[in-house]
Amino acid sequence: MSLNELFRTQLVLLVAFSAGLSHAQDYVGSDTCSSCHEAEFDAWQGSHHDLAMQPANAETVLGNFDDAVFEHRGVTARFFRRHGKYMVEAQGADGGQHEYEVSYTFGAVPLQQYLIGFPDGRYQALTVAWDTRAAEQGGQRWFHLYPGEDIPPGDEVHWTAPAHNWNYSCAECHSTRLRKNYDALADTYRTDWSEIDVACEACHGPGGGHVAAAKAAAQGAKEYPADHGLAVNLNRRGEWHLATGQRNAALARPTKGAPEIEVCGRCHARRSQLSEDYVHGRPLSDTHRVQLLSEGYYHPDGQILDEVYVYGSFRQSRMHAAGVTCSDCHEPHSQKLRAEGNAVCATCHAPSTYDATEHHHHPVESTGAQCVECHMPSRSYMVVDPRRDHSMRIPRPDLSVSLGVPNACSQCHVGCSDQWSADALEAWYGKERKPGYQRYASVLIAAHAGGVGAGEGLAALALDESAPIIARATALQEIADFLGPESLPAIQAGLASPDPLMRRAAVQTLQDVDATARTQ
Ligand code: HEC
Ligand code: HEC
Ligand code: HEC
Ligand code: HEC
Ligand code: HEC
Ligand code: HEC
Ligand code: HEC
Ligand code: HEC
Repeated sequence: MSLNELFRTQLVLLVAFSAGLSHAQDYVGSDTCSSCHEAEFDAWQGSHHDLAMQPANAETVLGNFDDAVFEHRGVTARFFRRHGKYMVEAQGADGGQHEYEVSYTFGAVPLQQYLIGFPDGRYQALTVAWDTRAAEQGGQRWFHLYPGEDIPPGDEVHWTAPAHNWNYSCAECHSTRLRKNYDALADTYRTDWSEIDVACEACHGPGGGHVAAAKAAAQGAKEYPADHGLAVNLNRRGEWHLATGQRNAALARPTKGAPEIEVCGRCHARRSQLSEDYVHGRPLSDTHRVQLLSEGYYHPDGQILDEVYVYGSFRQSRMHAAGVTCSDCHEPHSQKLRAEGNAVCATCHAPSTYDATEHHHHPVESTGAQCVECHMPSRSYMVVDPRRDHSMRIPRPDLSVSLGVPNACSQCHVGCSDQWSADALEAWYGKERKPGYQRYASVLIAAHAGGVGAGEGLAALALDESAPIIARATALQEIADFLGPESLPAIQAGLASPDPLMRRAAVQTLQDVDATARTQ
């Protein structure tokens, strides 16, 4: 190669490289992706992610706007149409009835909410929602998200209050590359997004660099970036093998950890946002404050209580610790389960062992024999939406007896005592029982009660490497109320932890430590 040629190739590479860089932050939109990835686009289209937010029109509005009147404890809302627009007459912040135009729909199944725009750029979500379930299931009706409660204007959950402000409280999770653009001086919003719904780049990150690289490759460029020009590699799911005679699947080779759950967790976690500078592929805790297993949010054994979504639960599971990730069960583009019923578990858990009466002791194929009914019990949110606990735990009616936490058996066996369920399990499996991966209920209950020894228990849990990180971080955070000499090793270990959840809890707890100990 002559010097001249060498120079030219380097120049070409340099230009290609800087073109890639300059596009790396660009969001190009799903339509661009669809031109080369039709299959993923088709699977995503019409999915709940695609329907997360839409402009209100005849195709998207599911509610009854034929002059339907809904009354909630003496306050009425009337839904109607005028010149093709979707309108509601509802109680405003001043207590009077006013007419508002519906700008957007929010969500689709099993309920749909409606967003009302205000001149200062704010959008508010109405708390009267449409139940999209079939009439036979009690749906096809308007209902209030706070049944049985008076919500006067000025109340913190009135639809005009900040809790229902879309820009601040909802938008990041229902759209792609959202910028709030809040002007603090003028107290106005100019919120915008690259796409209105949860689109390709919500998960894959900005696609400009990838599209440039793919186009260059199609034109014969030899240098193709190993990372495909994408910010995050979501194709890192482990390969699971269920060998004959084995009960549970094992990884074909160790994974380097899937970044996927941090991507899904941005929206499927109870968390607050610390910064808008989210970077795909970085730990969620860099920019978000994930809710730990605190009182009021989770039961002390880590089961879901308030609306905490999925991430905090899944991080408590033995399956997460073993390397399982969301898309092992959910096809991420359609969000559908990869198989129906017990089959979604059967890829990794031998049906001959588990989908058998020797394991579940219920008639085969009855509801009592569904894996999810015992290992992922559900709880309803937003009045009509049952969601399953992703901590994938072993039912422990014995803990209900001793500690008062709920259990899956009693959800169905209403009227039978927890002791009845505990006795049944002992009869089925004998006294030697499997305790499961979540073994911190008694420690957290002692901490909430504030009794003697609570600090020692928390310190031991914070240091326990066989417990899930999110439970250890919770213990580290709660140590703040019980500081003593035994706390320091736990705090020190927390500060040195590779996991940001631990480091954050340690730093937070250190704020309550006196200055000398803090320097140590
Ligand atoms: C001009 C065509 C083109 C466009 C437009 C395009 N891609 Fe690709 N994409 C490709 C090709 C070709 C590959 C396969 C490259 C390879 O496997 O080496 C690919 C691979 C991928 C992969 C797999 C990477 C991996 O780790 O194996 C993902 C994810 C992806 N594209 C997402 C997107 C997204 C999201 C968009 C829109 C922002 C997009 N693509 C737009 C051509 C394109
Ligand atoms: C930008 C935010 C965001 C990201 C990132 C995101 N989701 Fe979602 N997801 C949502 C929202 C919002 C909904 C509800 C949409 C609706 O009901 O209209 C949803 C719905 C779902 C549902 C369907 C729930 C139902 O209603 O039955 C599944 C399953 C799901 N997501 C899985 C995932 C997985 C797996 C990932 C990561 C690979 C992920 N999501 C990433 C916001 C997000
Ligand atoms: C932390 C991210 C996040 C925030 C913030 C958020 N949502 Fe959602 N929303 C979701 C996810 C995830 C789902 C899908 C829930 C599921 O099935 O687990 C969803 C679902 C919905 C649904 C569809 C019904 C359903 O349960 O599938 C509606 C309606 C909705 N959200 C309204 C709102 C409103 C209104 C706000 C603001 C007051 C809001 N959301 C704030 C993530 C979020
Ligand atoms: C909810 C998050 C999410 C959204 C939204 C999303 N993807 Fe993906 N995508 C993933 C995950 C996770 C994987 C890896 C799947 C796996 O391991 O099986 C993936 C894989 C891919 C791949 C590689 C497939 C392969 O077989 O190698 C392509 C291409 C792709 N996505 C394109 C798209 C396009 C185009 C869109 C928009 C229409 C899109 N994705 C939307 C999460 C998402
Ligand atoms: C991709 C593989 C995979 C899939 C799919 C899968 N599991 Fe697992 N599961 C595992 C692995 C691996 C373990 C840990 C086994 C071990 O360490 O002994 C595990 C452990 C468990 C445990 C033991 C938990 C504990 O605390 O001891 C339960 C219960 C469980 N899985 C239930 C389910 C259910 C229910 C489903 C279907 C909804 C399911 N699994 C689907 C891989 C999987
Ligand atoms: C009626 C409730 C019930 C149903 C249904 C059920 N399980 Fe279980 N499962 C349990 C109980 C209880 C244990 C703990 C058993 C013990 O203590 O020995 C358990 C334990 C497990 C474990 C951990 C076993 C180990 O060796 O560590 C796995 C994995 C599991 N179940 C998977 C499944 C799968 C997959 C299905 C569906 C095919 C299923 N279970 C259906 C109640 C149930
Ligand atoms: C072991 C399999 C498995 C894994 C892993 C898994 N899910 Fe699920 N997921 C399910 C099952 C089963 C359901 C219940 C679906 C139904 O009832 O139709 C579900 C339901 C959901 C729903 C609907 C609301 C709810 O809670 O019922 C969302 C959203 C969701 N999963 C998101 C996620 C995310 C995000 C991850 C990763 C952090 C994940 N899932 C990991 C099996 C799994
Ligand atoms: C999804 C609902 C459901 C769950 C969860 C469930 N069961 Fe059942 N169970 C049933 C039904 C329905 C029957 C009746 C079965 C039949 O004969 O068709 C039954 C039958 C039984 C029986 C025998 C009949 C009787 O009443 O004496 C026992 C014992 C039992 N269950 C114990 C348990 C225990 C222990 C658990 C938790 C590990 C559990 N069940 C979880 C629904 C459930």
